[in-house]
Amino acid sequence: MSDTTTNRRKLLVVFNRAPISYAREGGERVARRGGGGVVTALGGLLAHHDVTWVASAMTDEDRAVAAERDGSFVEETANGAAYRLRLVAHDPGTYERFYSVFANPTLWFLQHYLWGLGAAPDFGPELHEAWSDGYVPVNEALASAALEELDREPEAAVLFHDYHLYLAPQLVRAARPDVVTSHFVHIPWPEPDYWHALPEGLRVAIHEGLLANDVVGFHTDRWRQAFLLAAGHLLGARVDRDAGTVEHRGHKTRVVARPIGVEPAEFDRLREDPAVLEREAALAARRPEQLVLRVDRTDPSKNVVRGFRAFALLLERHRELHGRVGMVALLAPSRQDIPLYADYVAEIEAVVREVNERFGKDDWQPVELDIADDFLRSVAGYKQFDVLLANPVFDGLNLVAKEAFLVNERDGVLVLSENAGAHAELGDWALTVNPLDVSGQADALHAALTLEPGERRRRAAAIREHVRAHSIREWIDAQLADLDAVRSAG
Ligand code: G6P
Repeated sequence: MSDTTTNRRKLLVVFNRAPISYAREGGERVARRGGGGVVTALGGLLAHHDVTWVASAMTDEDRAVAAERDGSFVEETANGAAYRLRLVAHDPGTYERFYSVFANPTLWFLQHYLWGLGAAPDFGPELHEAWSDGYVPVNEALASAALEELDREPEAAVLFHDYHLYLAPQLVRAARPDVVTSHFVHIPWPEPDYWHALPEGLRVAIHEGLLANDVVGFHTDRWRQAFLLAAGHLLGARVDRDAGTVEHRGHKTRVVARPIGVEPAEFDRLREDPAVLEREAALAARRPEQLVLRVDRTDPSKNVVRGFRAFALLLERHRELHGRVGMVALLAPSRQDIPLYADYVAEIEAVVREVNERFGKDDWQPVELDIADDFLRSVAGYKQFDVLLANPVFDGLNLVAKEAFLVNERDGVLVLSENAGAHAELGDWALTVNPLDVSGQADALHAALTLEPGERRRRAAAIREHVRAHSIREWIDAQLADLDAVRSAG
């Protein structure tokens, strides 16, 4: 593939989160890097291209900034790269319905198969309100801001990202039929039947919205195939599964699988960062002989509670490991204004207490839980683990499984869910688990802790080499090449 990043492009990124968020501290306005893996991933675009980024104002200070500015303004990344930022302020009630009722507890739950359907979900009028007075107007507002930015920069290609904005592409396409757009979905795409959990009008609008794009991307072929299937089943669209294209209402969409990577140079730097070294020294001083690590957001899709139950079962079955093995969970708090997410943190804390009370001794606490927004602490953990548990119920990719191996110094073993998108790439070198099978996870943890050193080395090296060879740059290049292919075909 050609190195498209050397060729500067005009790009319009439309994603719910901005690369920075503003806050007020001691009367002063301060800017912090926006949270989440998508922001990190797209950050790479800012240095190499002329980017305008359209996002929702999320904090009070974001809203103050949005009110002071008329349209987009120039901002700078931490490394001094200039880009244009446009923050769209929504009515707080509208945004609440969008984010805390529809996008996360509904779409996110649906797309990660987090409902059993017997009792949940139980949609009342609030779902319909969250759609029509939340999801729809927020999509309209971001689409109209994107259209204004396109007036300023008519040649720009538009890159939509993620599940917050499935309706925006169609609104942009209706006003600007010639614009080239892509939409990258960072989370799984469920099978068509599961989409029937949503009322018909909503599931149809979501699929039609996405099919207004020229390109729709996923991290793995599994989600791509499910989307192709759903487009046929739910819309009756013309699907060519070999070519990976969908034709609907006279528009053709290419559907691609482009697994995201990480930036190896960034982790080479972080490995030596004084703040990481300090956190690592503290962890090294208290760590047991063998360390099982997990690093996640506190999200039910990450399956943290079953992970602890598996660890408890391991301790029940293998008394010889008592005092010698420990599990450390470094979790970042996530979406805590949403009751389902706050409840999940309480569940996590309860299971940790239970395991420690049951197995702990005066000189040995089997589980350590640390919930904080501190990425450098996670990098310190990455360096020190013997076993990394990544057991999501479902996950679009799982960046932790990639990042951790760039800095790990102990030939750590990956225990990986078969439902993580990254499994398609890393599964050969991981111990695969079914995320619902707690007993199987306990066995896999034991197998990982007792794996022969030569085999550990071989597997860890293979993962490291794969991650180094398929960096974030390859992912960005692939997306730009996909847009070029649309332009040259049109
Ligand atoms: C996942 C999603 C992103 C989201 C991030 C953080 O990685 O794919 O779209 O930004 O989680 O979640 P938040 O709700 O805090 O933006």
